[in-house]
Amino acid sequence: MLILGIESSCDETGIALYSTDAGGALLSHALHSQILMHREYGGVVPELASRDHIRRVVPLLRKALADSGRTLSEVGAIAYTQGPGLAGALLVGAAFAEGLAASLGIPTVPVHHLEGHLLSPLLSSRPPRFPFIALLVSGGHSQLMRVTGVGEYQLLGETLDDAAGEAFDKTAKLLGLPYPGGPALADLAERGQPDMVKFPRPMLKSGDLNFSFSGLKTAVLTKVREIGSPDEQQRADIARGFQDAIVEVLVKKSMRAVKESGLKRLVVAGGVGANRELRRQLDALAANAGISVFYPELEFCTDNGAMIALAGALRMLSGVSSKPAGAFAVRPRWPLADITG
Ligand code: KG4
Ligand code: ZN
Repeated sequence: MLILGIESSCDETGIALYSTDAGGALLSHALHSQILMHREYGGVVPELASRDHIRRVVPLLRKALADSGRTLSEVGAIAYTQGPGLAGALLVGAAFAEGLAASLGIPTVPVHHLEGHLLSPLLSSRPPRFPFIALLVSGGHSQLMRVTGVGEYQLLGETLDDAAGEAFDKTAKLLGLPYPGGPALADLAERGQPDMVKFPRPMLKSGDLNFSFSGLKTAVLTKVREIGSPDEQQRADIARGFQDAIVEVLVKKSMRAVKESGLKRLVVAGGVGANRELRRQLDALAANAGISVFYPELEFCTDNGAMIALAGALRMLSGVSSKPAGAFAVRPRWPLADITG
């Protein structure tokens, strides 16, 4: 069966076509990122995001269809992000998906955005087998989970305040970097010297698998104020100190989760999973401990339609959640635990 996937939960419009035939394959995907549009405001403006999704969704669908060589009449079901995310942005994708599916007489599969992230490494050329531990680190979430199969997710720990990506973005803003700050801060950190600026490792010794990152941002603010107007090298040293602190906490807690579970596989998903230093340290520690680490392809770390098409396809194959097209509701706030079977 051919599954159309639609993602519109925040500032990326993503469309993808996934075929469940012959073991499953991603046929095409198209993406538009609104980053440049939101940059002048220093963050995502929800109303602008919704309007832009409306503009992009049809051209992206046409492109994905053309790239796959398939036609709309061949699509068997439409998966779309039902939540969590920005209400208006979600409504665009949901209304489009439900309307299109109704006109085609096919079912829809409402998908949890984080389930898309969690399953995204299955799209890579070296996919992990179940069960595995997942570190999900995005702009909105930071969680450690035990993933036993499709729809079987057990929360092991999560952030008590800011998400890892949010901490990167807010700290980057303090250092005068453009939105979204994560990648820019990571680049700046590579020019910084280790241990010139030392920040706390929040909750490293808390004895559980929870995180807290909002204090780090305050520590950076205090440092910037103390220096006054930091020069380029001082900004790089601060970025390095911040990244080293956050990466050390993420790496150590992930390794602890893997060891406590007795499993040998760790999956890293979500935008912060693109961070080079995080990957370098995880790979090094995991290799020593005989643990395999899996990442989504870089283009599928941040939001995209492919992971939604895949999650929809896997949910359909596991027989759980397609529904007749038509009535729908989006779920801007939606704990992943709610979909765990
Ligand atoms: O998964 P994602 O696209 O969106 C959410 O679902 O939230 O993640 C976006 C987040 C942003 O906070 C962005 O700054 C961060 O991922 N990010 C990074 C890097 N690339 C993206 N953070 C640190 N280092 C990176 N290389
Ligand atoms: Zn996301």
